[in-house]
Amino acid sequence: MRIGIIGVGNMAQALGGQWARAGHEVAFGARDASRAAAVARQLGAGARAVEHPAAAAGFGDAVLLAVPADQVERVVVAAAPPAGRVLIDCTNPIASGTLTLTTAGGPSMAERIAAAAPGTHVVKAFNVCHESVWRRTPPVFDGRPLAVPLCGDDPEALALVGRLATDLGAEPVPAGGLVRAGLLEAATALVIGLWFAGRDAQAVLPPLAYAGGQA
Ligand SMILES: NC(=O)c1ccc[n+]([C@@H]2O[C@H](COP(=O)([O-])OP(=O)(O)OC[C@H]3O[C@@H](n4cnc5c(N)ncnc54)[C@H](OP(=O)(O)O)[C@@H]3O)[C@@H](O)[C@H]2O)c1
Repeated sequence: MRIGIIGVGNMAQALGGQWARAGHEVAFGARDASRAAAVARQLGAGARAVEHPAAAAGFGDAVLLAVPADQVERVVVAAAPPAGRVLIDCTNPIASGTLTLTTAGGPSMAERIAAAAPGTHVVKAFNVCHESVWRRTPPVFDGRPLAVPLCGDDPEALALVGRLATDLGAEPVPAGGLVRAGLLEAATALVIGLWFAGRDAQAVLPPLAYAGGQA
């Protein structure tokens, strides 16, 4: 698969590096082309740099938006991905101090991205976990592959992003349409708050068999 990545920071390198190692062609586009070139050189086979974010948006089957949430709409408008492109939104619109949503009271960031790029297929994914988790090969904990919730409206786009989650050694979990992306963003803010407080977020949920009183 051909994957464009906008941004060359932590998430871009973590996910892009894994996908390049899995055999995909990954093209990094950054506002500083020399940084993209350096990252591509460091990652080696499968990774390349393109001259700017718009070239990454035009490169492949899917485009990972690995930029800060408060920049992502303007980055998408400037990059103008073509209609039909799958946009992977890993952003977390979370205020660093309060750990509240910067989108509170309005559309989710994923929906804002979809509005900024009409005709594309936005899938919210890979936003829950820290970049260090995505660098694990594979991200398996206590024998269980990490589950990756996906929110999006287009079945083919969801299938494509699901394959990319599988390529990491994780397990894609359909989590509803883009209308539910705001819940995923909010759930992530809650979970990050628990982690920052030193609490095990996983511990607040019972196993599936006990979730609805069946067991
Ligand atoms: N870090 C994590 O553990 C983690 C986990 C889950 C989700 N996320 C989400 O993933 C996204 C990326 O996070 P990150 O940790 O990878 O951030 P990062 O390391 O700070 O990298 C951000 C990248 O975005 C680029 N950028 C910033 N503003 C831009 C603009 N206006 N135009 C073009 N490029 C711009 C930066 O370019 P320069 O190098 O030129 O500054 C940099 O390459 C964020 O939305 C974050 O919420 C992060």
